[in-house]
Amino acid sequence: MSFDEYLELNLPKIDSFHPHFNDALAWVLRAGGKHFRAKLLLGIVETLRPELTKDAFSVAFGVECLHTYSLIHDDLPAMDNASLRRGVATLHVKYDEVTAILAGDALNTHAFYLISHANLDPKTLLKCIQTLSSDGGIYGMIIGQAIDCYFEHKHLSLEELEFLHAHKTGALIAASMKMGAIISGLDDESCEQIYKIGLKLGLAFQIHDDIIDATQDEKSAGKPTNNDGIKNSFTNLLGVKGAIKARDKLENEILDELANSPILPLVNDLINKYLKEQNA
Ligand code: IPE
Ligand code: IPE
Ligand code: MG
Ligand code: MG
Ligand code: MG
Repeated sequence: MSFDEYLELNLPKIDSFHPHFNDALAWVLRAGGKHFRAKLLLGIVETLRPELTKDAFSVAFGVECLHTYSLIHDDLPAMDNASLRRGVATLHVKYDEVTAILAGDALNTHAFYLISHANLDPKTLLKCIQTLSSDGGIYGMIIGQAIDCYFEHKHLSLEELEFLHAHKTGALIAASMKMGAIISGLDDESCEQIYKIGLKLGLAFQIHDDIIDATQDEKSAGKPTNNDGIKNSFTNLLGVKGAIKARDKLENEILDELANSPILPLVNDLINKYLKEQNA
């Protein structure tokens, strides 16, 4: 079964007389997305412990639920006020803000429901929950989003911008790789090494996302572009060329650091597919 099929079969559903809450829960999940974080997590397990891949699906789906919640809330009028996501209307436009806030809340907690019910060793699950609740929460994505929003119209230094991006996007990508390593049974030190590489990859990912905002149209991005004018972004600070240079430098460092690692082909493929100029 592919991850897409798994997602479709396991969409969150609640039996009730609400007329459209289940459709709202499924709307942005079903709209697609790259599944970059799930592909990293599952790709690591598939490389290191292929027999566990099927049982890792629900952990990967948990990560995608938490990521999708972050997008639903990121698009709200109080945050980025976006009307398009993954090529479809954002949830607050399709329904209303109350529905979007609650569907986001639901997908956030459902992530931990899915992980805690995965058919894996309880110690593994606890470590995954600790990782996701830290990097997807206040110690990662949330402080990143808070800084992103608070410092709109206010200048940040390159160092501060790296902190912002490493938290709002890097942490969840690093956590996805680390959870793949945890499920594969790697020791703590190896998991931390993979986490550090994930932070670099996540920073490169957000720099590329800034480049997409500055260089693509709404149709190819599936979301509004030219929307980061008031934001601290790599393209605003360094220009498009400078941002591409910073991203490529990180990508080369990552590939060098993984030179002797079995996960090099996976990471190399994902970089080429999602983090290169033809996609910017
Ligand atoms: C968008 O994430 C928000 C960022 C953290 C840059 P993705 O680019 O992974 O969005 P989807 O999941 O593919 O739609
Ligand atoms: C959002 O960053 C990162 C999240 C944690 C959701 P952006 O605001 O740049 O993401 P897009 O460009 O709307 O996808
Ligand atoms: Mg945002
Ligand atoms: Mg946004
Ligand atoms: Mg963006």
